[in-house]
Amino acid sequence: MSDLIEGYLGKRVDGTKSRVPAALDRWQSITGLILGLFIIGHMLFTSSILLGKDAMYAETKFFEGSLFLDEPEPILVGFAATVIFVIFVIHAGLAMRKFPYRWREYKLLKTHSAHMGHTDTILWMVQAATGFGMFFLGSVHLWTMMSMPEKIGPYASSDRIYTDNMGLLYGLLIALVILHAMVGLYRLSVKWGITVRRNPRADRIRNKKIMWGAILFFSLMAYSALGTYWRIGKEHRQNYGERYLPQSTNPSNSSGGGE
Ligand code: HEM
Repeated sequence: MSDLIEGYLGKRVDGTKSRVPAALDRWQSITGLILGLFIIGHMLFTSSILLGKDAMYAETKFFEGSLFLDEPEPILVGFAATVIFVIFVIHAGLAMRKFPYRWREYKLLKTHSAHMGHTDTILWMVQAATGFGMFFLGSVHLWTMMSMPEKIGPYASSDRIYTDNMGLLYGLLIALVILHAMVGLYRLSVKWGITVRRNPRADRIRNKKIMWGAILFFSLMAYSALGTYWRIGKEHRQNYGERYLPQSTNPSNSSGGGE
């Protein structure tokens, strides 16, 4: 009965409000924090190609469990991708609650943000727009990682980017994901007052500078890495499908390692 009253009137019998919206908000922040930190690590790891094919190869094997298994197991990467995908879906589901779906809601938000000239409100709109794009592009990438984790490596990844035409998708996804993750981490710091304490205004300005610095740094790194994968894929197009072997195990592989 009390559920029915709350359902129709939005208030409980005793006049108090439900705590569910606050709990959902907390989970949106927690899943966002996990994904934001994951993306920082991910961008550093995929950029290992900038250090050479051998570096990316060694890192791929590391994530396949080479430290503690006799034979590296790509399924470990597939499992990690599945866990990330589940968190990604939960986070997107929770975030969707706040999208301005109706024309009236959208108009109100646009007028409000233009009238106030409030950059944090504009950043929220950036979050919503980039998040929307990631629904599609992020899902394609995650499905690839979940369904064929064995096809990751200096040549396999480069073949995917050049010959399998994933370069454009990654080019767009880099912009979306870096903006979304860095703006998201900045907004979390403000929302929960994590690093905004003694002098909130000055701390917020400092955090925003760090956010722009991080956007620039990760964009430069990710686009350079994408360019490198693209170049390797182009050079390797005649041998599409061939797997990379590090120079130490395959001295005849003249194009391998340290490039
Ligand atoms: C455990 C989950 C994940 C794994 C194992 C993974 C793995 C990889 C790998 C190996 C690459 C290199 C290209 C390739 O082989 O296709 C890559 C690139 C990329 N991934 Fe992921 N990824 C994961 C999750 C994500 C998520 C959640 C996002 C964002 C929605 C993302 C965004 C990107 C972007 C933008 C690139 C291009 C980066 C560049 O070229 O520098 N990835 N990922």
